[in-house]
Amino acid sequence: MYSKLPPGYITKSSIVCIGGGLVAYTGIEYFSGSETFYRKGVINFLIISMKYLITLIIQLMPAVHRFVEPEQSHKIAVKMAKWGLMPKFGYNLKEYPELKTEVLGRTVENPIGLAAGFDKNGEAIYQLATSSGFGMVEIGSVTPLPQPGNQRPRVFRLLEDEGVVNRYGFNSDGVGKVQQRVKEAWEKLVEKRKEAENSNRRNMAIFGVNLGKNKLAEDAKLDYEIGVNYFAKYCDYLVVNISSPNTPGLRSLQSKKELQNLMQYIKHDVDRHGLSPSPKLVLKIAPDLIDSEISDIAQVALDKKYGIDALIISNTTISRPESLKSDLKNEVGGLSGQPLKDLSTECIRRMYRLTKGQVPIIGCGGVANGEDAYAKIRAGASAVQLYTALVYDGFPVVGKVKRELAELIRKDGYSNISEVVGSDHKDLKK
Ligand SMILES: Cc1cc2nc3c(=O)[nH]c(=O)nc-3n(C[C@H](O)[C@H](O)[C@H](O)COP(=O)(O)O)c2cc1C
Repeated sequence: MYSKLPPGYITKSSIVCIGGGLVAYTGIEYFSGSETFYRKGVINFLIISMKYLITLIIQLMPAVHRFVEPEQSHKIAVKMAKWGLMPKFGYNLKEYPELKTEVLGRTVENPIGLAAGFDKNGEAIYQLATSSGFGMVEIGSVTPLPQPGNQRPRVFRLLEDEGVVNRYGFNSDGVGKVQQRVKEAWEKLVEKRKEAENSNRRNMAIFGVNLGKNKLAEDAKLDYEIGVNYFAKYCDYLVVNISSPNTPGLRSLQSKKELQNLMQYIKHDVDRHGLSPSPKLVLKIAPDLIDSEISDIAQVALDKKYGIDALIISNTTISRPESLKSDLKNEVGGLSGQPLKDLSTECIRRMYRLTKGQVPIIGCGGVANGEDAYAKIRAGASAVQLYTALVYDGFPVVGKVKRELAELIRKDGYSNISEVVGSDHKDLKK
């Protein structure tokens, strides 16, 4: 006779069975990049172990949102990327001929990029460039001197709006430390690229470094010059970020005269290195510019003497759309994610028209599925980047965007993404 166990009692062997099964199942779902597991979080978890049939429901991203503070989960996500703990068997690493294209003079497997701000200090470059599924990976912003950024808390999830407000304020390890990581990763990437070329294997992501300035620096151009000097040799492109809302005075560098002076200075510095190939120079702008400011930037971008090879549109917004529901909407900082989506797309559209499609645009802001990416590409982007979608959907969003984008291209009768760029502007195309 066995004594009757109290209600809810679970034996040690049950715990081992359930726990082991749970870990194994979670591992399979995580590495196969199951979108349901990451986003909806509903997993019907079945274990039959001798006597028990157990169904468990787990919600990965919602659980992270509930239990882990935003900055902490950001740090964990970077560490996981660094250790290669990203989906390995699902759609993430699948590539589609429709998405293979040229970005910044290089062939990429797909035009979906990781935006700046995720890997600010270049801790996970190699893993991100080889096994995340992104076609482009950008790190930074990196400032010349190390600086701590603003006080915590400084990142806020607007859950109801699928947005994020951040006021990190360029927390950075500084160019010295970051350069060591970049150099090491770049050398490995170059090696891998050669191997891939010789064996017809998948191309690595192209790699960019996003440059910022120190909060207390008086002459911004000297800070960007330092960034160029530290990273020009070790990347495919450099981003001049003059659009983060969390560094006082930074965005005023977008005005015409200031921008002309700055870009001429930076271009001269890049040319001075005499590299072949020379890293491309990309300017990242805010979505909050008025028409005359956008028009000024278009003129500078069209003038070859300023050396702008492409524009990233856009950074986060300081505006707060009426539609926001979250209590955290009035936190100071830059807003990203879904509430930024249409604003950035419209900015792309305007810039594409003003430049008549002559300056490549990398669209950024609220991309979370194939349709979001498609809308930006039709409006004039040659490639897109994302960051906030990782907060809500985790890494499987990369596979999802690629799969859905390829489907949309096929459905509309195109054979390659390059045919879609700017297709909303039929009158311009004539
Ligand atoms: C937490 C956070 C930190 C960011 N840090 C940077 C940064 O250091 N430099 C930069 O150029 N953009 C930064 N961004 C802006 C993103 O690169 C991107 O332009 C913006 O978030 C819009 O894209 P998304 O809606 O896909 O996030 C940051 C965004 C977030 C959410």
